[in-house]
Amino acid sequence: MRIDRCYCFDTTFAALADVAHKTGAETVAALQAHAVFGQRCRLCHPYVRRMLRTGRTVFHQVVTEADEPERVEDGG
Ligand code: FES
Repeated sequence: MRIDRCYCFDTTFAALADVAHKTGAETVAALQAHAVFGQRCRLCHPYVRRMLRTGRTVFHQVVTEADEPERVEDGG
């Protein structure tokens, strides 16, 4: 299993990491102001949070909301 993108919008976590680096976005909500992803099934949100936290852009295991919970300051 290789999970490396928001599949609904075909936006790779590597591309989102680049956007985060360039814009300073530190949350899913902040990233969504600069990139199109995560507006359908939202299954990618915990992966994006983990990417923001660790810098990893490819995952080989399931990451759920319980594994990578939304922080209060994410604001949705
Ligand atoms: S995989 Fe990102 S919204 Fe569905």
